[in-house]
Amino acid sequence: MRNAQSTTSRDILNKMKEQEFEIYSLREMMNKLQEGIYITDGRGVTLYVNNAFINLSGLNREDLMGKRVYDLRDENILPTSCCARVIETKQAVSTINNYYHGQKCLVSGSPIFDHSGKLIRTIAIVRDVSELDAMMEYLGEEKESQNKIQIKNVPEIEKYTMPDSREPSMQEIYHKASNLAKLNSTILITGETGTGKDYLAAAIHNLNDDTKRKRLIRINCGAIPEHLIESELFGYESGAFTGAKPGGKKGLFEEAGEGTVFLDEIGDMPYILQVKLLNVLNDKQFYRVGGNTIINFNARVIATTNANLSRLVQEKKFRADLYYRLNVFPIILPPLQDRKKDIISLLNKFLKDFNHKYLNRHSYSPEAIQFLKEYPWPGNIRELKNFVEKSVVFSQGFAMTCDEVQQILSFEISNFDLSELPREPENLTETWGSLKNQMNAYEKRILSEAISKASTYREAAHNLGIDLSTLMRKKKRFNIKH
Ligand SMILES: Nc1ncnc2c1ncn2[C@@H]1O[C@H](COP(=O)(O)OP(=O)(O)O)[C@@H](O)[C@H]1O
Ligand SMILES: [Mg+2]
Repeated sequence: MRNAQSTTSRDILNKMKEQEFEIYSLREMMNKLQEGIYITDGRGVTLYVNNAFINLSGLNREDLMGKRVYDLRDENILPTSCCARVIETKQAVSTINNYYHGQKCLVSGSPIFDHSGKLIRTIAIVRDVSELDAMMEYLGEEKESQNKIQIKNVPEIEKYTMPDSREPSMQEIYHKASNLAKLNSTILITGETGTGKDYLAAAIHNLNDDTKRKRLIRINCGAIPEHLIESELFGYESGAFTGAKPGGKKGLFEEAGEGTVFLDEIGDMPYILQVKLLNVLNDKQFYRVGGNTIINFNARVIATTNANLSRLVQEKKFRADLYYRLNVFPIILPPLQDRKKDIISLLNKFLKDFNHKYLNRHSYSPEAIQFLKEYPWPGNIRELKNFVEKSVVFSQGFAMTCDEVQQILSFEISNFDLSELPREPENLTETWGSLKNQMNAYEKRILSEAISKASTYREAAHNLGIDLSTLMRKKKRFNIKH
């Protein structure tokens, strides 16, 4: 009896040693991985992070272990926590995170369920994609860029709520937008770049709790190559064309379900597809490419553009019938300089957000504020936001003076002001630095000019004899803001 008992306890002891060894070797193996690993329990409490995660993120293990990812998100330690999104959606989620060391990482999170279907763990795998990204840029590869299509609800967008304003004209606009949000009608938002069209579209989508839970699919009509746009929007059946996946593929209109399809830069929608879009809006149904089954279209459409659509109609670049169909409920966002009362409230809002993000206490002197109120803000809210971010980053800890403000703004202006760039290639002198820098400056100028002369990005790309996607990539790379 006693013998049997001691055998059992020896067995248990051995088993425990074995398990301890397993755990030890598992930990060691995890620490040898180049990918970062982050594991939480079902409630989001951090259970494990490997060494690679610590190196990639630049965070301390002690600041993470035992903490809930929601708290880390609120405290801006992990502002885009992938595990938090996994728990919220109970689905695999991918996010692109920029960490403190400047690495850009692709984070793929997955839920782990027990036998009864209860979420018990989440695991996120973090890969450094900064080098890959730089290489892609260098090779000029056509990147599946985030701004072409966004299917998942981007956390950033979820926060967008219907803005407040002190300007009666803006109050009216937001009031109208809120009323339209309740209807399922198509909405057209126009306005200069940076006036908040994307923001308002997301706010309309989010206004209604019911639609908020549904999908917001943003399609940048100017950034999808023309030959792909039809199959992207409508999907296709197998065999519809060479290279079509067997079994076919759902298009974005189908993916949207009863959510929102947000057609950004509608002015760039290829002419030939405009009639198809019109039919979808009128008939509330469509076919996949190569298919003959009717698919119902139940999503709401919000279109935005900074192009002058009525001019495009006159120039026969945009179909008049589609224009009238979209223009039933137009919302025109005025430039920021026409809503001066909003400048200070937006400035304060951005100041609060960026002080929080950069753990700073930046402020402006009264003269600087007076100057900012009068400044014309050619890049509208986007320029104001960039300006505040820059000033918080450069802040010396004192209230920023008018001079300092002007210095930061003149840097911004140089991005708009083409006169800074050499006029002719023969004017390029050695003062312009390396050949590469000179070539880049010259290329930026050519692209900027082509974009400002053309009515749409597609037309600019055509005039330059390059692909639209190449133009959009270069525009982003050179930070061309129009
Ligand atoms: N009412 C607002 N409140 C706070 N931020 C805003 C508001 N409107 C726009 N923004 C911010 O300004 C920037 C430009 O807005 P966006 O909607 O992208 O402009 P557009 O689509 O007209 O070019 C974005 O970073 C956005 O988050
Ligand atoms: Mg936009």
